[in-house]
Amino acid sequence: MKRFAVIGDPIKHSMSPYMHNDLFQHYQIDARYDRVHIEKGMLETGLELLKKDGLAGFNVTVPHKTDILPFLDELDPLCKEIGAVNTVVNENGKWIGYNTDGAGYLAGILKVMPELKDKKTLMIGAGGAARAIYFTLAHHGVETIDIVNRTKVRAEQLKAACPYPVQTAILSAEAAEQQLGEYDLIIQTTSIGMSPEIDDSPLDVTNIKENALISDIIYNPLEPKILQEGKSRGAIVQNGIEMFVYQGALAFEKWLGLMPDTDRMRKNVRKQLG
Ligand code: ATR
Repeated sequence: MKRFAVIGDPIKHSMSPYMHNDLFQHYQIDARYDRVHIEKGMLETGLELLKKDGLAGFNVTVPHKTDILPFLDELDPLCKEIGAVNTVVNENGKWIGYNTDGAGYLAGILKVMPELKDKKTLMIGAGGAARAIYFTLAHHGVETIDIVNRTKVRAEQLKAACPYPVQTAILSAEAAEQQLGEYDLIIQTTSIGMSPEIDDSPLDVTNIKENALISDIIYNPLEPKILQEGKSRGAIVQNGIEMFVYQGALAFEKWLGLMPDTDRMRKNVRKQLG
């Protein structure tokens, strides 16, 4: 039996085991996917145990996505640029790191906006998730991605670190709100809107263009406030389920060489979310 896992802290609410175990059953693959709790300071010891266990692959989540880099044997080039890993593949005893978060986001957004390159984009946030998305979109060829973030210097650092050509203006919230009508795509990557902690919107979307797309990487709640407000002004909205499903599907493909049924995965995730 092949064994897979997700490592993180906290880990008990991860929905990845439901998603992957259901796929193993569906495709009649003799495999199992578990949650493994590894505390922040215990990564090295935790990984030694995983190596002894001979895992075929695993996902990595908060807080280990960056800290795991030195313990891997090889890194996929885009994942190396992003500086964070969410998927590890065991290839004949070698651990290879990938980042399917950015690629998962891209796959989800391409479903509703297939021609992305010339779409004027605004990203809200400049943290870890924003970095994976920003680099991946720039790598894909998106020409303009402006950034608005509470801490301006983090946005500047993100822009400076990107190895792929992209036009980026760093905006204040006021400026972004004022010129919101210029954007075709608005990407919300902060934790604002994640209930019950912060039930709010990071930006006033009054000036949004009709038929613009707002995508939020949050999926719990299914419709964060910014999506509700955007929708009421005629925007198209997408929540974080697509990114979650596709990052999982791409990880599954890397482990087993088979792109799984994403409709099935989406239905399963929705069922878990109630
Ligand atoms: P993640 O890996 O999930 O992206 P992160 O790296 O901690 O997490 O980044 C969180 C993002 O949400 C950042 O853009 C952060 O803004 P700062 O760079 O100013 O910290 C943003 N964020 C979180 N809480 C926020 C709040 N209350 N108001 C505004 N922005 C917030």
